[in-house]
Amino acid sequence: MNKQNPTEWHPESWKQKPVSQQINYGDQQALNDAIEQLRQLPPLVSSSEVDNLKKQIALAQEGKQFILQGGDCAESFADCNADSISQKVRLMVNLSLLLSRKLNKPISRIGRIAGQYAKPRSQLMETKLDASLPSYRGDLVNHIHFSESARTPNPQRMLQGYSYASLTLNYIRSMLESDLDQIYQLDQETEELRNLKQAKQVHQSLHQFQQMMQMFHNFTGAQPVTKSLMEFYTSHEALHLHYEQALTRQNKEGRWYNLSTHFPWVGMRTASSNSAHIEYLRGIANPVAIKVGPKMQPEQLTELCQIINPDNEAGCLTLIHRFGHKAIAKKLPSMIRAIKGADIKVLWCCDPMHGNSRLANNGIKTRDFDHIQSELLQAFDIHKENGTILGGIHLEMTAEAVMECTGSSYQISEAELNQAYTSLVDPRLNISQVFELVDSIDTSIQKIPQKSRLIP
Ligand code: PEP
Ligand code: CO
Repeated sequence: MNKQNPTEWHPESWKQKPVSQQINYGDQQALNDAIEQLRQLPPLVSSSEVDNLKKQIALAQEGKQFILQGGDCAESFADCNADSISQKVRLMVNLSLLLSRKLNKPISRIGRIAGQYAKPRSQLMETKLDASLPSYRGDLVNHIHFSESARTPNPQRMLQGYSYASLTLNYIRSMLESDLDQIYQLDQETEELRNLKQAKQVHQSLHQFQQMMQMFHNFTGAQPVTKSLMEFYTSHEALHLHYEQALTRQNKEGRWYNLSTHFPWVGMRTASSNSAHIEYLRGIANPVAIKVGPKMQPEQLTELCQIINPDNEAGCLTLIHRFGHKAIAKKLPSMIRAIKGADIKVLWCCDPMHGNSRLANNGIKTRDFDHIQSELLQAFDIHKENGTILGGIHLEMTAEAVMECTGSSYQISEAELNQAYTSLVDPRLNISQVFELVDSIDTSIQKIPQKSRLIP
C-alpha cells in the first residue's frame, strides 16, 4: 500500500466503514445536492501550501521547528467578523513570538480556524426539562439554540460553513499582507493585557525585531518583512466526512488533497483503525494529526500510524496526546516506546486541554489552569527523559477576556464562570492565561522533572 496511490481508496471509500458520530439528515436528496454544490466550488487552500506545512512538520520532528496550534473549541459562524478574526490572528502571532523566544526555534502557526465548525459529542441527545433534542454538533451541522428546528441537521449549513471559512481565510490572507505593526498590536481595549508582564516582553521583542528589519532594509534595500515570518496555516477536526470529501481534490500528479484545510486531525472518538474517519485520512496527502487519549493502547496507535502513513514519510503524522495531568506520566512513556520501537516518524504534540475537563460545582464545564500547566510541563519532561522531542502544543484559547478556565494568576473562581463564558463547547484559556502558560514553558525544558509538577 502506498500513500501516493493507496489501494482501493477513493474520497468516498469511507462510506464502506462504520461511521461514528454519524449525522442523520432526514432528506437524502438535500444532502446530495449540498455535497454536489460544494464539489463545484473552488478549494480553500492550495496543495503547495499543504506541502509547505508538511515540510515544517518534518523539521519539527527533528527539533528544528515548533508547532503552535490553537483557537476555539468550536468556531461559530457568528464570529466571522473583522474584529474576531484579527484578534485570533494577532493572538497566534504574538504567542508564537513569545514561544520562539522561549524555545529558540522558528514557530509554525496553525489556527483551529476557517473550518473548525463540526463537533463530536459524547451524548448525541440533550435533555432539558422534559424535552429531548439532538445535541449541538457544531455550526456546520445545526444551531445551538435549544429548539427542534434549530437542532435539526441542515445540509445547507455545509455550504454556509464553506463560505464562512472562505471569508475568514480571505481576511487572514489580507491581514498577513498588511503592516507588521498592525498584526502585532494586541487589543488595546483589554486592560489586563496592557498590564501583562508577558505582553510587555512580546512588545519589546517586536520592537527590537522591527529595528533589525529596518536596518536590514536600509542596508540591502530588500523588503523588510519576510513572507515566511507571516505564514499562517489552518486546521480543523476532519469529522464531517461529507464536507471533507466534497473538498478533496486531485492534483496533476494524481495525489488527493483535502483542500478545505492545511492540517486535518482525527478526534479521539473517531480514531479506531477500522473507522470511516481513518479510511478517509489514509488517502490524502495532507499532514494528518491523531488525537491520542488515555483509552488508546500502544499497539492500536502503531497500527493507526501504519495505516495512515505506510511509507513512514517525514512530516506526514502528528500525534496530539491529551491524557490529562494525572494520567500522562503513566500513559505517555508506553506510547513513546511503541512508536520508537517500530521506528515510526511522528511529531509529538501536547494538548493539555482535553484530558483536563471537569464539571465545576455549579455544573459548568471548566478546566483548571494548574492542571493544564502541569500536563504541559510534564509532557516536556517525559519526552526529554525518553529521548523524544515535544515539537508542538495544541491549545483551546481566545483573545477575549473570558472566564472559562479556573485559576492562574488571574484567579478565576468557579463562582465567576458564568460571568463571561462564551465558548459553544469546551472552556478556553483567556488571553492572560494563555500568555502565562506559554511563559512558564522554559523552566520545564531546562530542569529535571520536579514533584511539584504533579498536582494531586
Ligand atoms: C477537540 O479538539 O475539540 C476535541 C473534541 O478533542 P478530542 O477528540 O481530543 O476530545
Ligand atoms: Co474542545
